[in-house]
Amino acid sequence: MIFRVKIANTDLSFEVNDDETILDAALRQGIEFPYSCYSGICTTCLGKVESGKTTYANNEIYGIDPDNAEHEVLFCSAYAQSDLLISHPEFTSQAMERPKTIACRVIAREILNNAIIKIRLQPKLDTPFAYKPGQYLELQHGGKSYPLSIASHPDDEFIELHLLNADYSPLPEGLNSAINQHDEVVIHGPLGNAYLREDSAAPILLVAGGSGFAPMKSIIQHLISKGSRRTIHLFWGARSPQFLYLHEPLRLWDKHIANFHYTPVISEPSHQWQGLSGLVHQQVLAHYDDLSDYDIYLAGPIPMLRVAREDFLNHQANEARMFSDGFALLNAQWD
Ligand code: FES
Repeated sequence: MIFRVKIANTDLSFEVNDDETILDAALRQGIEFPYSCYSGICTTCLGKVESGKTTYANNEIYGIDPDNAEHEVLFCSAYAQSDLLISHPEFTSQAMERPKTIACRVIAREILNNAIIKIRLQPKLDTPFAYKPGQYLELQHGGKSYPLSIASHPDDEFIELHLLNADYSPLPEGLNSAINQHDEVVIHGPLGNAYLREDSAAPILLVAGGSGFAPMKSIIQHLISKGSRRTIHLFWGARSPQFLYLHEPLRLWDKHIANFHYTPVISEPSHQWQGLSGLVHQQVLAHYDDLSDYDIYLAGPIPMLRVAREDFLNHQANEARMFSDGFALLNAQWD
């Protein structure tokens, strides 16, 4: 049986089969519905059923108030039993951007250091490419798609990406060196749910490992450009200082922007390194014993995300206020 779902406060609607979850149906039809764990744990997808009936296949749904279960629903786990009108805090009168595929020109290519290459893309034919700070896109090249975080912020006239140099990159040899200035490339996006929640006034912790810094740069520059007074503390971890490829500008921001703080952390320091060392998330905990008041954004290697999430939850982090697109991958690995 097929039902129709309408999202309140938007002009978005979609069809759902009675044997698929409401989230699956939304994503299948190109709607960027918020989710993270995909398995009824994180509550990122939690919203309300304003009218209509839903059910769960599994009665043991975590993260939901059972007394309120008729109205609050985890859409990653719920099935429709009638036409629905639903709502979710992320859907305001501003509809989410749908991903699209567009051609871009490489307008700049710059070697930041021996580990990182920066490229800047300009959409061709003035096709607008709207996104939120913290999102990523897929760069299509040689018949494959490569997920890359967006390092620019939405008001920039270009799209900035950071590519690891071929010697350090897990990407197949060739992607980094094959992209040259004036080339035409195709991108698909925006994608991802670890974007900046602008409806929150909470202080922000940004935790990046290696080139996971790119989406943090987007979030920081967006907040600064909007004159936000929210406290922002970036912890950037890397194996060695050469991977902290924008260390000096960040030190200057730390010095001159009152609500921005920067803490670099090196995991394999040489004797010349004067700063903090160890695992980046442990330095977060050394600074903040109780994380309950913070919105936390994380990006970096999966092992880092795994230990950080666990340790942060043990220090009162609010799971619904921790954002990382890597969490979905983590949960898939745990299943
Ligand atoms: S609880 Fe639904 S996506 Fe995590």
